[in-house]
Amino acid sequence: MTGPSAEPLGPFVRTVPLTLTGRGEPLRASLALAAASLDWLDANRETFLHPDEAALVTDRLHARRRHGLLAGRFAAKQALARLHPEIDPRALAIRPGVLEQPVLSGEGLRNLGVSLSHAGPVALAVAFPEGCPMGIDLEWVRADAVPALASQMTEAERRMAARLDGSEVEGLMRLWCLKEALSKALRCGLTVPMELLAVAGIAPDPLGLSVTFAHFAQYQGISLLAGELASALVLPRTVTLTVEAADRATWHDALAVAAAEWREAGNR
Ligand SMILES: CC(C)(COP(=O)(O)OP(=O)(O)OC[C@H]1O[C@@H](n2cnc3c(N)ncnc32)[C@H](O)[C@@H]1OP(=O)(O)O)[C@@H](O)C(=O)NCCC(=O)NCCS
Repeated sequence: MTGPSAEPLGPFVRTVPLTLTGRGEPLRASLALAAASLDWLDANRETFLHPDEAALVTDRLHARRRHGLLAGRFAAKQALARLHPEIDPRALAIRPGVLEQPVLSGEGLRNLGVSLSHAGPVALAVAFPEGCPMGIDLEWVRADAVPALASQMTEAERRMAARLDGSEVEGLMRLWCLKEALSKALRCGLTVPMELLAVAGIAPDPLGLSVTFAHFAQYQGISLLAGELASALVLPRTVTLTVEAADRATWHDALAVAAAEWREAGNR
């Protein structure tokens, strides 16, 4: 275990299989949480980056952006490896689309998409069938974020956050993550009025909390928080997401371990 003042080298990786049932055959998706230092990612980038991705990581990038870009691609390749262990990660490219959304391509892949989020050295990614669009988000919970977060919530959302277990900032951050994950599933990002992404209802769920959205009834969200990391996954409401109990624990523990071991680097 690394002491609190040193940055652990990594990599730390946990993956979680997701089963989706709706119409027809069950669909498979996969989630990965990864954390690694910028030094480790830079030293090992040739083992997981496609040449087109390597071209995005120029020396002109700020270290924080470089770290996020590498950690996000690394996490996404881990999620993809869970679905397609036979494919070399370097043969898969995640390029920015015209809306800056991640666009996945590669030989041997059919109709798969990815969504990813980076929070300093920690990244969370989901690989999913394109027929079942998803969005993901990961954030550090910081007490000083309360005024900014509260200002982006509707009155009803602020009341909802206040009723949740945990601190005020945890409740608000859970809702923020859910809204950002919805914006990624929709591909609009946070370019729309935040009220459009409002959470309508919230209920306990074996995974954490499950929510519905006020203006996008066709989507559902899952919120999971551990340590100082909040995560959210948004997916269509027409499918049922099944995560085995052991895998739910893996997701929770991955957040807790990453939060404990990478907090200092993440909050720098
Ligand atoms: C999407 C957005 C909410 C992500 O916020 P963020 O603070 O960068 O946070 P995260 O780390 O959680 O997510 C970053 C990832 O979101 C993904 N993303 C970016 N834009 C996206 C979009 N429109 N739809 C879906 N995913 C998107 C990318 O994969 C990005 O990581 P990458 O650039 O390393 O590939 C934010 O970037 C946004 O609002 N973007 C839209 C702005 C826009 O339209 N820009 C176009 C040029 S003006």
